[in-house]
Amino acid sequence: MDTSDLEKKVDQLRKAIAQYDALYYQQSAPLISDPEYDRLKQELQALEREHPELLRPDSPTQTVGDDRIEGFITRQHREPMLSLDNTYSQEELIEFDARLQKFFPNEPLAYMVQPKIDGAAISLTYESGQFVRAVTRGNGSEGDEVTHNLQNVSNLPSVLEGAPAPEIIEIRGEVYMRYEEFERINAERAKAELPLYANPRNLASGTLKHRTPQKDRLLDIICYGLGYCDKDFFQQISEFQNALRHWQMPLLEKFWLVQGIEAAWEGIQELAAIKDQFAYPIDGAVIKLDTLAHQRQAGATAKAPRWAMAYKFPSEQAETQLKHITLQVGRTGTITPVAELDPIQLAGTTVARATLHNAEEIARKDVREGDCVLVEKAGEIIPAVIGVVLEKRPSDSQAFVFPKNCPACQEPLSRLPDEVAWRCTNLACPPQVRRRIQHYASRQAMDIEGLGEAVVDQLVTQELISDIADLYQLNFEELLELEKFEQKSSNNLIQAIKDSKQQELWRLLHGLGIQHVGASVAKELARHFSDLRALMAADEDRLQAIDGIGEMIARSIVLFFAQTLNRGIIERLMQYGLNPKGNPSPQDNRLAGKTFVLTGALPHYTRDEARALIEAKGGKVSSSVSKRTHYLLAGQATGSKYTKAQQLGIPILNEADFCELIGQEPPQNDLPELPLG
Ligand code: IVH
Repeated sequence: MDTSDLEKKVDQLRKAIAQYDALYYQQSAPLISDPEYDRLKQELQALEREHPELLRPDSPTQTVGDDRIEGFITRQHREPMLSLDNTYSQEELIEFDARLQKFFPNEPLAYMVQPKIDGAAISLTYESGQFVRAVTRGNGSEGDEVTHNLQNVSNLPSVLEGAPAPEIIEIRGEVYMRYEEFERINAERAKAELPLYANPRNLASGTLKHRTPQKDRLLDIICYGLGYCDKDFFQQISEFQNALRHWQMPLLEKFWLVQGIEAAWEGIQELAAIKDQFAYPIDGAVIKLDTLAHQRQAGATAKAPRWAMAYKFPSEQAETQLKHITLQVGRTGTITPVAELDPIQLAGTTVARATLHNAEEIARKDVREGDCVLVEKAGEIIPAVIGVVLEKRPSDSQAFVFPKNCPACQEPLSRLPDEVAWRCTNLACPPQVRRRIQHYASRQAMDIEGLGEAVVDQLVTQELISDIADLYQLNFEELLELEKFEQKSSNNLIQAIKDSKQQELWRLLHGLGIQHVGASVAKELARHFSDLRALMAADEDRLQAIDGIGEMIARSIVLFFAQTLNRGIIERLMQYGLNPKGNPSPQDNRLAGKTFVLTGALPHYTRDEARALIEAKGGKVSSSVSKRTHYLLAGQATGSKYTKAQQLGIPILNEADFCELIGQEPPQNDLPELPLG
């Protein structure tokens, strides 16, 4: 490879990894499986190792993926929450041990081998034995506070009792979902004809990162590690685990405390043999130095500790022939290439189709029709084509050319700059039409009873409707023509469609099927705009000013309303009487013109939070007390600012007075309601 090719390749890999990272960490919706992702990263790592001049500090090989999303309070970890180096090879584990042996010559190294739970990392802070908060890993130094969502977690004590606890401790663990719960939720979604979740990890991490607790989804937690803690409190992880047991914290069901790497490897093999007996996904083993002083001495790189390593279990793979590549058009127009395979047995099921993810992945792997391909099932519901067996490639094979036009409607495909997927943006594209109408009528959107998939299919096939606005022109006689429809069902459906004109604005917005606008974004929009027209007039900046709406969502909304076809449909919806009102709250400016000075620690708000509250309501914060100060917000009744405010007769507020002034409920108690352990 010459230099420019090499640079291009490294650049492509970095771009792809960054995109997959964003989907994995922020949207809990990875496009590719873990082993595939790991292989991309390994390829990049190898290139950077061979060509150190190409290494950059912001390369995804040098940074911790960031799970923070808008709409959460950010909390600093007292002790960084790093990621973990991982490997699929025994050799690399031996090298890991050899590096540590150099650090600690002549000392037998005690290792703890633990199951690696496939969920989302969490840090639990307990102060004076009381549960205070739960925070995601975030960027490693600060994460999102998700305490409210731990109400779904069935097994977390709110008080540490039964053994002495340090004054402040960060306990690290994994929030996960059991297979049984995952299958229950997916079965319900299948019944409601909603797309299925790919695997329990995504669902666990998506549930954990909801702004409102999802009470109907059960999460669990297992604690396995120590974050911040007085360094003399525990000497070994094994000792810490004993304390966890006394505190009745949820523990690893199984672990191996061993001496030396050979015994650790045996532990890993034992775990591999029983991993499918766990009630939740285990995707590998984590091997760690047991002695905490050793861990501290070994230290960490910017990204991962030197004292721990993840060994990931290989996933099941099989070879078969790829007969054709077909292109599926999703509801939002996403084009997904699918491999039609010669059926094979894989991980207990017959596999006849597998995803090829996107155009980039096809090109990167150079997958062609007629190839013998390697198919993998890695804990995902949908298997994936991961590579080509080149020795078996037919001599006359042709590189696959990803079309420039939609396979269903022939309109040109387009792609947003930060996205991997090509998309057909034509709202009249037939497969999209069906799926959009189904979505519009679904329970989560306009909730039109009696308008399920089979009825929509018939209506579209018989050319009675071709978009959502057409629904409102359907008449009784037309419905009578449909299979299994008689007077009563026709009447009911006509009535249900008519009733939907009264649905709330957020339901209509969700029903339109704008990319990235799910129910919760739609609700947020309805809180900010008086009606559909007001939303349509908003530009990207106006949209981005809304909590929880970033660049990607804003752009998608503007693009949607810019389309003539979409505007036409919306105009017709309005003519038929759909014009629900939003409920934007008037801008709260009650502190306009008021200057605050802050002093002392407040019981519930940090200084930044108090400042943000003041500024959000039009007030200002100044650093010193003067005649121009309107209020002193004081955490305690001492200090020079306090005395000066008293002298000048400036009103002094405590936190409760402040809350009353701004019309905010004072925070009652930091502790969520959790079952006592
Ligand atoms: S120890 C400083 N132990 O795997 C590293 N991690 O791929 C501390 N994980 O971010 C991590 N089970 O979310 C550790 N028994 C276990 C684990 C575990 C699952 C997760 C954790 C970590 C990720 C790295």
